[in-house]
Amino acid sequence: MTHQTPANTTNCDENCSSCSSGQPPQPRKGLPPRSKIDVKHVILVLSGKGGVGKTTVSVNLASALSAHGRNVGLLDLDFHGPNIPKMLGIEGQKPAVLEKHIEPVHITGTLSVMSMAFLLPNTSTPVVWRGPMKMVAIQQFLDEVNWGTLDYLVVDLPPGTGDEALSIAQLAPNVRGAVIVTTPQDVAVLDAVKAIRFIEKLEVPVIGIIENMSGMICPHCGETIDLFGRGGGKKAAEDLNVLFLGAIPLDPAMVIAGDEGRPYVLLHADTPTWKAVDAVMENLVKRVES
Ligand SMILES: Nc1ncnc2c1ncn2[C@@H]1O[C@H](COP(=O)(O)OP(=O)(O)O)[C@@H](O)[C@H]1O
Ligand SMILES: [Mg+2]
Ligand SMILES: [Zn+2]
Repeated sequence: MTHQTPANTTNCDENCSSCSSGQPPQPRKGLPPRSKIDVKHVILVLSGKGGVGKTTVSVNLASALSAHGRNVGLLDLDFHGPNIPKMLGIEGQKPAVLEKHIEPVHITGTLSVMSMAFLLPNTSTPVVWRGPMKMVAIQQFLDEVNWGTLDYLVVDLPPGTGDEALSIAQLAPNVRGAVIVTTPQDVAVLDAVKAIRFIEKLEVPVIGIIENMSGMICPHCGETIDLFGRGGGKKAAEDLNVLFLGAIPLDPAMVIAGDEGRPYVLLHADTPTWKAVDAVMENLVKRVES
């Protein structure tokens, strides 16, 4: 969907009912204007709790999309634990600040990254952020970063139901929806349900659920071991009537890739884990681009 906003109506919500009905647009009450970032699809990656693999999934999905010829931006909005630079081995890099823009860090020709971690004095500095400060930072990440023309902006969010998701939902254009990451255990699935309820309140569509750490690939024989069980994410998706995007196994090679600061999917091809990530990416593309 492309929607041209006339120059004098920049305050209008791109999805406002006036626009779709051809009536004069209405200003977004109490909200700053939507960002003019040039992106076709904004995808939020969310979970009910930490440690389920949101950042890992964000990095690998973004890499898989870029490997499939899409122009991808990866935006780390986990202000309290911005882990994306570490997982990409670009910790300590400083994005160039040009006259009016911040240049994101380029991983490949079609994958650029921006994270709060780049702008902090050091990674062990605890940061106390209040909601409004985060909102301003998010606005700058959208408007002042030289993203170029993007097919996808993949947004890694902190766990739970915080200000970041609300702000990005309000500020970014073309938010196609949220991808919910869960692990197979019942408690994690319950948290995923909470995340879905939250995202629905923000009037952001749920694209689907990904079950991460779904069985473990044995490093010795390559067989799958059911460590935390399997199928909880799929069942939750069915119960909630949302799309199941796929399952990604727990793979020690993925931990090593993360620790080495390289996206797993750019290192490996034709392993079961790589195929699983690729399938999730394909399902996402099918849902978003059709
Ligand atoms: N599919 C996976 N296989 C193996 N390790 C994984 C997988 N997904 C995540 N991890 C590991 O689990 C830990 C937590 O993942 P992370 O992506 O940081 O979670 P979150 O962002 O949800 O807090 C990391 O050490 C990461 O390497
Ligand atoms: Mg994370
Ligand atoms: Zn084995």
